[in-house]
Amino acid sequence: MGKCYPTVSEEYLAAVAKAKRKLRGLIAEKNCAPLMLRLAWHSAGTFDVSSRTGGPFGTMKNPAEQAHAANAGLDIAVRLLEPIKEQLPLLSYADFYQLAGVVAVEVTGGPEVPFHPGRQDKPEPPPEGRLPDATQGSDHLRQVFSTQMGLSDKDIVALSGGHTLGRCHKERSGFEGAWTSNPLIFDNSYFTELVSGEKEGLLQLPSDKALMADPAFRPLVEKYAADEDTFFADYAEAHLKLSELGFAEE
Ligand code: HEM
Repeated sequence: MGKCYPTVSEEYLAAVAKAKRKLRGLIAEKNCAPLMLRLAWHSAGTFDVSSRTGGPFGTMKNPAEQAHAANAGLDIAVRLLEPIKEQLPLLSYADFYQLAGVVAVEVTGGPEVPFHPGRQDKPEPPPEGRLPDATQGSDHLRQVFSTQMGLSDKDIVALSGGHTLGRCHKERSGFEGAWTSNPLIFDNSYFTELVSGEKEGLLQLPSDKALMADPAFRPLVEKYAADEDTFFADYAEAHLKLSELGFAEE
């Protein structure tokens, strides 16, 4: 779909630039790039293309959305970001949380994801239950990413590469462990680990394994494992789409 980005003021652009600098500092200080990426994704991933509800519109600041089971731990991300947000009253939460995801990828060595400002905050959180369930397989992934969000098979596999960052926490999701041995570096190791099979000390969720089991997903996993540049290009495109679901539509 074509995009028609809103024009924002010079003052607003300056606030975006300042937010970017502050986010780089916070992420370097707290090593919290994975949590910031998860915050941005869980904000955007609630978009429902048929009702045009949910999506990257700042509603995660609402404690009711933080309390959704899938969002366990994201209250910490919101809390870490609040002192920066207080210095930037002009900036929408919607833009700020998406910018946090973009900066998290960039500062850990990932691709540069383009960022267009101008999202407006929505007053109401989306209903609970729109984010994917890690215990399910490829039919479920397509239901959530394709039917609900309007994304493609390629987007599903590329975005799953977000698990190159961070780890699972038993007390948040019930799972424990990291996908790669360098969880603070954004590279294609999520895919090289998937291709090489399970390894002591590392984790694969059922939804990660589903990418290897599905005949359409698997060739993409293999391509990204073999070619990091292609992964980065496809990831940047998919992350951009995710971060703009329901935004700037013509
Ligand atoms: C494909 C469906 C997905 C499922 C079922 C899924 C599930 C999960 C689960 C269960 C966790 C562990 C949370 C915890 O215990 O702290 C997690 C963490 C994470 N997810 Fe996903 N996820 C999916 C897609 C994505 C996408 C599309 C991205 C970003 C592009 C992403 C980025 C992350 C990151 C960065 C973490 C680590 C957070 C941390 O270290 O605190 N995930 N995911």
